[in-house]
Amino acid sequence: MKLVKEVIARFPADVAVLDPFSGTATTTLTAAEHGNSALSFDINPFLIWLGNVKCRSYSVEHLAFVQDGAQQAIGRIPALMKKDNWTPPLFNIERWWSAGTLKVLAALRTGPVEVFGEPAEDRTDGLAWVAFCRLVIETSAAAFNHVSMSFSSETTHHEVEHVADLYLAILDAVLASSGAQLQGWGQVVEVDARAIPEMGRRFGLVVTSPPYPNRISYIRELRPYMYWMKFLEEAREAGEMDWKAIGGTWGVATSRLNGWKPNGKSLPEILTDTVGRIAKSNGKNAQLMATYVLKYFYDMHLHLSSLPNVLEPGAELHYIVGNSSFFGNIVDTPAILTASMQRLGYEDAASVIIRKRNCNKALFE
Ligand SMILES: C[S@@+](CC[C@H](N)C(=O)[O-])C[C@H]1O[C@@H](n2cnc3c(N)ncnc32)[C@H](O)[C@@H]1O
Repeated sequence: MKLVKEVIARFPADVAVLDPFSGTATTTLTAAEHGNSALSFDINPFLIWLGNVKCRSYSVEHLAFVQDGAQQAIGRIPALMKKDNWTPPLFNIERWWSAGTLKVLAALRTGPVEVFGEPAEDRTDGLAWVAFCRLVIETSAAAFNHVSMSFSSETTHHEVEHVADLYLAILDAVLASSGAQLQGWGQVVEVDARAIPEMGRRFGLVVTSPPYPNRISYIRELRPYMYWMKFLEEAREAGEMDWKAIGGTWGVATSRLNGWKPNGKSLPEILTDTVGRIAKSNGKNAQLMATYVLKYFYDMHLHLSSLPNVLEPGAELHYIVGNSSFFGNIVDTPAILTASMQRLGYEDAASVIIRKRNCNKALFE
């Protein structure tokens, strides 16, 4: 938020802001707080839902309604515990939660469904569901480290009272941070950033952070939320969704890469050089990794080709990107994207290093 704030603070409130890779809607929310109108795109239905929940203004009455509804849901747990409640079809679910905790979570989930409806139905605002998302992670054996997720070796059994208290405490924190009225306006819509259509509106400022070419899969990381919130119903869908994602690499998305070829775009030389070096290295699956990098930048090139459909003349763009390394071959993301931009007629492209990514000295954002 700090980075986004610094950029947006330089612009007047009547500049329309775009984030073509919304994620958790940081740009859109920050812009709306600053008084601007902002729109963001994503292809992940869970993130579109979450972003819209974050970018709404809530009245005091509404927050009280959510709190009452959650209390009702909690009251229903003892009765619901006697039933067989729906649990998400997550692979190896026993690694995430003990059987006992899962039963409590499943009963607790059924309560808000009765009160608020399913998240995807969007009948109410979703704040109670955001709290539930945090609850499932806090009661799980998963640890979200900086880059990726891991499991501790054992799950913990949580009693009904503990889960209920934790849920209400999390909900309190969510509600306490949802009362501010946004000065501006923000929305997240489903658009594939590789093929942005003309939309009848244009943006003077883009602040965004696309996926990095580092084989991290957003779908993989978001699985627990996506299954619990019913935005994913089976593993196959996860792979299909990741194939649409730039840099996606989960399940079928990786196997499809094998047969993938770029289609008639003239790509920058620095990209062909980088891909050639990776392909010729001795790494395991070197050719596949070379194709992964090629497809990542090909998709980013498609994105940059369709972006002018929604830009005002003279628009300013800020991309937070990361480099990566395959078998010791550095993929210089800023240089490759700058070359793509120049090829497509963008002016004054330049990059600065804002921070180191992790203990690997060569990785930066
Ligand atoms: C690095 S994250 C964005 C992080 C964001 N700045 C935040 O604060 O959470 C990149 C996002 O791009 C989305 N994405 C990937 N491929 C996309 C595509 N083809 N079109 C639109 N969004 C895409 C992913 O779903 C993910 O949410």
